[in-house]
Amino acid sequence: MRKIELLTKAHDRAGFDCGSEPLNSFLKQTARQHAERGISRTFVLIEEAAIEPKQILGFFSLNLCQIKSDSLTPEEAKRLPRDVSGIRLGRLAVAKEFQRQGIGRSLLVGALAKFMEIFHAAGGIGLFVDAKDQAARRYYEQFGFVSLPSNVLELFLPVRSIQEALADLGQRKPN
Ligand SMILES: CC(C)(COP(=O)(O)OP(=O)(O)OC[C@H]1O[C@@H](n2cnc3c(N)ncnc32)[C@H](O)[C@@H]1OP(=O)(O)O)[C@@H](O)C(=O)NCCC(=O)NCCS
Repeated sequence: MRKIELLTKAHDRAGFDCGSEPLNSFLKQTARQHAERGISRTFVLIEEAAIEPKQILGFFSLNLCQIKSDSLTPEEAKRLPRDVSGIRLGRLAVAKEFQRQGIGRSLLVGALAKFMEIFHAAGGIGLFVDAKDQAARRYYEQFGFVSLPSNVLELFLPVRSIQEALADLGQRKPN
């Protein structure tokens, strides 16, 4: 069994390699400092039975963000005040040897569930993500994220789509 938990010293940050150096070094050097300072939170996927230092199969980080509603599509911007809050999926990465096994998808579902926890406590219009390149953009698009008009590499998934996605997964679980 696998689970998602908050990154701590018990995890093997040094042994993680997703093939992207900026993402590796964020995990190794920045993620815990950012968590301590309240800049972002990083969550890791591990085997429940893992022994320390626990191998990291993949990770994502989240932070609060503020955006101008006029940077959304006119459809989304309708009836919103000028400044709105959301959650940003700052980083998402899977260890090289575990890529293309559905782990990225599981991490994304974990991030959507975390979004809902924050949404219930403090609101937020949806999840934003910065894709690092066009391939990453296509990756997020398959989960329903839509590019912002001002920047195709910045994508948005509104709260109603998050609720639908999670409800759909809940309905499919017994199978
Ligand atoms: C991008 C990344 C997070 C995807 O995670 P993953 O666990 O490999 O992806 P999944 O197994 O969940 O993929 C689900 C689907 O996404 C698509 N997909 C996955 N990786 C892809 C890639 N590199 N290029 C194009 N499509 C891809 C496929 O359709 C895949 O389904 P399939 O394997 O049945 O065809 C991972 O490859 C990674 O960490 N890459 C390096 C870092 C990075 O680019 N991060 C993006 C942050 S901006």
